[in-house]
Amino acid sequence: MKTAIIYVSKHGTTESTALKIQKGLGEKTTQLFNLKNINKIDLLEFDQIIIGGSIHAGMIQNRIKDFYSKNMTTLLEKPLGLFISCFYEGETAQSQLEKSYPEILRKHAKSCKVMGGEMLIEKMNFFEKLIVKKVAGISESDSKINHENIQLFINEMSN
Ligand SMILES: Cc1cc2nc3c(=O)[nH]c(=O)nc-3n(C[C@H](O)[C@H](O)[C@H](O)COP(=O)(O)O)c2cc1C
Repeated sequence: MKTAIIYVSKHGTTESTALKIQKGLGEKTTQLFNLKNINKIDLLEFDQIIIGGSIHAGMIQNRIKDFYSKNMTTLLEKPLGLFISCFYEGETAQSQLEKSYPEILRKHAKSCKVMGGEMLIEKMNFFEKLIVKKVAGISESDSKINHENIQLFINEMSN
């Protein structure tokens, strides 16, 4: 089963989650595509597709939205996995997930999950540091990666 993982990552958390998924599904059969560097992917080469992005100010990256909008028909024809990285948990995280991907894709997906996130202060620019301090009161790096959900996602995508 050939899998494409298509992702966008600002400070590297979504990328490391994508790498964990790649490891879980099999490195030889799973290919990573960072939408920051690549915009042409031949989806027809793959048996299943995974899309992942991260949440900033409540929103997933426009590159992710543009990607699924342009490829909607193909995505609905193949097994699909969707995920987000974000720092908030519980209902807020769930509602961010629902806002990130349209219902038609979420319903079609084999797995659709919140993978948690990290606040990596050392990778933030001046304005990002100011925002996370003001909005979330965070001034030190912290990790809330949801390892359980990453494993569940791998399991569900393997079936
Ligand atoms: C400026 C800024 C704004 C953020 N806004 C949100 C937010 O609205 N909701 C949330 O759950 N996480 C928020 N986060 C946390 C990110 O989603 C988290 O850092 C995630 O791991 C980033 O993944 P990435 O490095 O792959 O982009 C924010 C982080 C930054 C730096």
